[in-house]
Amino acid sequence: MIWFEGICKTYKQGDNETCALSGVSANIETGDTVALCGPSGSGKSTLLNICGLLDNDYHGELYLDGQRVAQDTMTTTLLRREKLGFIFQNYNLIPVMTAYENVEYPLLLNNVSSKERSRMTRHILDAVGIADQAHKRPNQLSGGQQQRVAIARALVKYPRLVIADEPTANLDTQTANLVIDLMRSLGKEMQTTFLVATHDDRMTSHCDRIIRLQDGLLIDEINGGFQQCAG
Ligand SMILES: Nc1ncnc2c1ncn2[C@@H]1O[C@H](COP(=O)(O)OP(=O)(O)OP(=O)(O)O)[C@@H](O)[C@H]1O
Ligand SMILES: [Mg+2]
Repeated sequence: MIWFEGICKTYKQGDNETCALSGVSANIETGDTVALCGPSGSGKSTLLNICGLLDNDYHGELYLDGQRVAQDTMTTTLLRREKLGFIFQNYNLIPVMTAYENVEYPLLLNNVSSKERSRMTRHILDAVGIADQAHKRPNQLSGGQQQRVAIARALVKYPRLVIADEPTANLDTQTANLVIDLMRSLGKEMQTTFLVATHDDRMTSHCDRIIRLQDGLLIDEINGGFQQCAG
């Protein structure tokens, strides 16, 4: 599904250079939920931004669905719209739009017809259990409800890959479990691959695989769930 080889990333600010990734490689299978672990500053968000085609400024090779991803804005914008969904720690919903409009928005960007948009949006809002809140704006929803809207928005177009950066960090245990179960069950149903940066052992114990980063290097990989994510 997604394969990367020798990914290096250096942030430059004036005379300062921070090497965030120093040659990271992995191959992630279709339909797997993969946890990306490691201490703060180890490069998790940096790697997610590259895999999520939000950052083109890196060295190394990235393949998505068997195709090498060219590092130009036109290619990555189109691929991102077609194949990727995103879930963030702070939900990142558009504040002036209702929950329904937030979820529908990726379909609008992809020129899906109005009838089909309505069908797909209602279906996924129902699947995440938030249909009765669809008319509300994000500031009228709880954190858990907002994250469910964000999951619906990420999945509404049946993306090939979902990138999630600390999706449960702001949620209480009960809500976090619900959100994790939702991501897992909908992901399996849709054969969507998840790459999830997390410090949350509740999350990693539900993942198919763990990739661990330290100081910009991938230090080990563990297959199977019920592993602890130190750091
Ligand atoms: N925009 C930026 N400009 C300069 N340096 C950056 C930038 N973003 C990240 N870094 C640096 O790159 C390194 C990796 O950061 P990154 O955000 O990927 O870590 P992380 O593993 O996601 O951490 P956390 O768990 O705290 O979210 C850190 O040393 C960080 O300071
Ligand atoms: Mg981060």
